Amino acid sequence: MNILLTGGLGYIGSHVAVELLSKGYDNVIIADNLSNSKIEALKGIERITGKRPKFELVDFRYKDQVFDLFNKYQDINAIIHFAAFKAVAESIEKPLMYYENNLFSTINLLSIIKSLKYKIHFVFSSSCTVYGIPDKLPVTEDMPLKEPTSPYGKTKLFSEYAIMDTIKVLEIFNAISLRYFNPIGAHHSLEIGESPLKTYNLVPILTQVATGKRKEFLIFGNDYPTPDGTPIRDYIHIEDLAEAHVLALDRLFDNKNQDKYEAFNLGVGRGYSVLEVVKTFEKVSGKKINYRIAPRRPGDIAEIYADTTKANKILGWKAKYNLEDMLKTAWLWEINKKF
Ligand code: NAD
Ligand code: UD1
Repeated sequence: MNILLTGGLGYIGSHVAVELLSKGYDNVIIADNLSNSKIEALKGIERITGKRPKFELVDFRYKDQVFDLFNKYQDINAIIHFAAFKAVAESIEKPLMYYENNLFSTINLLSIIKSLKYKIHFVFSSSCTVYGIPDKLPVTEDMPLKEPTSPYGKTKLFSEYAIMDTIKVLEIFNAISLRYFNPIGAHHSLEIGESPLKTYNLVPILTQVATGKRKEFLIFGNDYPTPDGTPIRDYIHIEDLAEAHVLALDRLFDNKNQDKYEAFNLGVGRGYSVLEVVKTFEKVSGKKINYRIAPRRPGDIAEIYADTTKANKILGWKAKYNLEDMLKTAWLWEINKKF
């Protein structure tokens, strides 16, 4: 089985590559334009698994590059599509950059799939942002998809719609969207972890404050309608998240999917506030965090966490790590980082 990972050198893609290689999917092809990752991640994957995936420098925004890739590898059986920009606030400042990168990449992949004569499986990196501001919590997959609060979120929702609509007209095409909540932490080997070129997410910023690379941690708003006033998210360890990708692929390869399009929430099923994350991080790292309350960040919502029953029952998957474990691996990665 040849599995293509678009954006596979990034944070989530590199951990999924390790999980695939460890579970016997030996032919992994990573294609990435390195816009938010480093080539060193490839060595990390190799150090953990003893196997080196093939690597191609490809920008999925450009149709000719995508077609060249599929001309070179004429036997790709599945695609896991990670390649995208992912920062909510940046997408509000630069909406076209997000629409161009995230939507063109998805559409180019769907176009190539449509042009192929053989069956290809597709797993899409979606996000809890497709539930917009949810009417009830926890969110289940059958709740109506609502307008996301940022252009980034809209690219995830539009991509899901583009996949669903393509499936309707393409008999041999099946797909699973995995709706991630907030992935954090690093691989327990500390050979790979979160090493973005542009840092926007809570945990990598927090760990940088702890090492002194950044002066202070800004909590974006403490006037939300939550118990301590700071926003609540469902944090999930990256290795738990990676495991679900292999189960999703197994499901497609075994033809066990009940619908041609399925979506699964990937979270732990409980929420923590930003302040709770900061306090837990202080406990596991032994570092005092210099934090300050700042204005709300545009595009943020007050609270979201997952109902994971569907993934638990149908994929046979359950998150194992708790918040302390997650933050501990994030901290150990920060102080032992190889790239
Ligand atoms: P990441 O930035 O670490 O990884 C994305 C990778 O895609 C990077 O290696 C980047 O270089 C590459 N890339 C971006 N645009 C590309 C293009 N046009 N062509 C080729 N490569 C390109 O991000 P991540 O955290 O690993 O996220 C992976 C996917 O999961 C993204 O689609 C993201 O939207 C989605 N997601 C992430 C989170 C999260 O909190 N990390 C949550 C929900 C969904
Ligand atoms: C968002 C999206 C998620 C998306 C992910 C990718 C929502 C609900 N979630 O996650 O779908 O895929 O981005 O990046 O839209 N925070 C601070 N200070 C900081 C950084 C963050 O207080 O310096 C807070 C944020 O306000 C937020 C929480 O920490 O409440 C988590 O933020 P972040 O890690 O950026 O992820 P989300 O925005 O929740």
